[in-house]
Amino acid sequence: MRKKFIAGNWKMYKSPKETKEFFAAFAKEMDASESVKKAIADGVEDVAFFVPSISLTTAIEAAENMPLIIGAENAHWEKCGAFTGEISVPMVAEVKASHVLIGHSERRHIFHETNEETNKKMHAVTDGGLRAVLCVGETLEERESGKAHDVIKGQFLDGLKNFDAHTTAEKVIIAYEPVWAIGTGKTASAQDAEEICKFIRDLASDTFGTECAEKLLILYGGSVKPENTASIMSEADIDGVLVGGASLKAESFIKIAENAL
Ligand code: 13P
Repeated sequence: MRKKFIAGNWKMYKSPKETKEFFAAFAKEMDASESVKKAIADGVEDVAFFVPSISLTTAIEAAENMPLIIGAENAHWEKCGAFTGEISVPMVAEVKASHVLIGHSERRHIFHETNEETNKKMHAVTDGGLRAVLCVGETLEERESGKAHDVIKGQFLDGLKNFDAHTTAEKVIIAYEPVWAIGTGKTASAQDAEEICKFIRDLASDTFGTECAEKLLILYGGSVKPENTASIMSEADIDGVLVGGASLKAESFIKIAENAL
């Protein structure tokens, strides 16, 4: 049985002050939510937040008494160097964040990050002892021209180049986020999301073997809300969700964590 992984990606929202306020509100929601508390304690569900780098330390401190995962939204592949504006994996590890998002579609499409760069980052994160969430997903144009599977296959195989069959499932999580469903209110239907997540699991099986594929966590992201979480999570190959907008409010995010169970 794979653990459920419910994650918020705050993108460029929430300053340190707002982060502190959020976790004060989230602590109350957690306290009131017996099902989420029990699921985390029983090892059935993980709840994670990927926050802006400037708010990482505040998030770690504010969530200190809660069993939450805190991660960074990006990290450079070099440990240090002349890379103005970037943060490195050792920096993320030093503040005790444990996960890093890699290759989010906004990194790929706005900041022109390539598959080769995501691969270098994936290795930097996992070599640095942290867990990496590799985001993959097609644009509307790619979907409409029948290229979705090829695009995802390329992002998956290139992103995971030189990873091995034995440790990939422990070190890596995959998030399928169709670009056309991000921030648009247009969720992929549960069936469409499942079709691609199953395709990713089959790719994992072909590349790393069935044992790895069976253990690998695969998330769906794109306009996830409390109302559509249960149907998305009922699909066989979807193990969790990566939530943008609806993770910014404590009440909606706790409902997503509840409805995912
Ligand atoms: P929305 O949930 O706002 O569509 O964002 C999805 C996303 O990009 C999460 O990484």
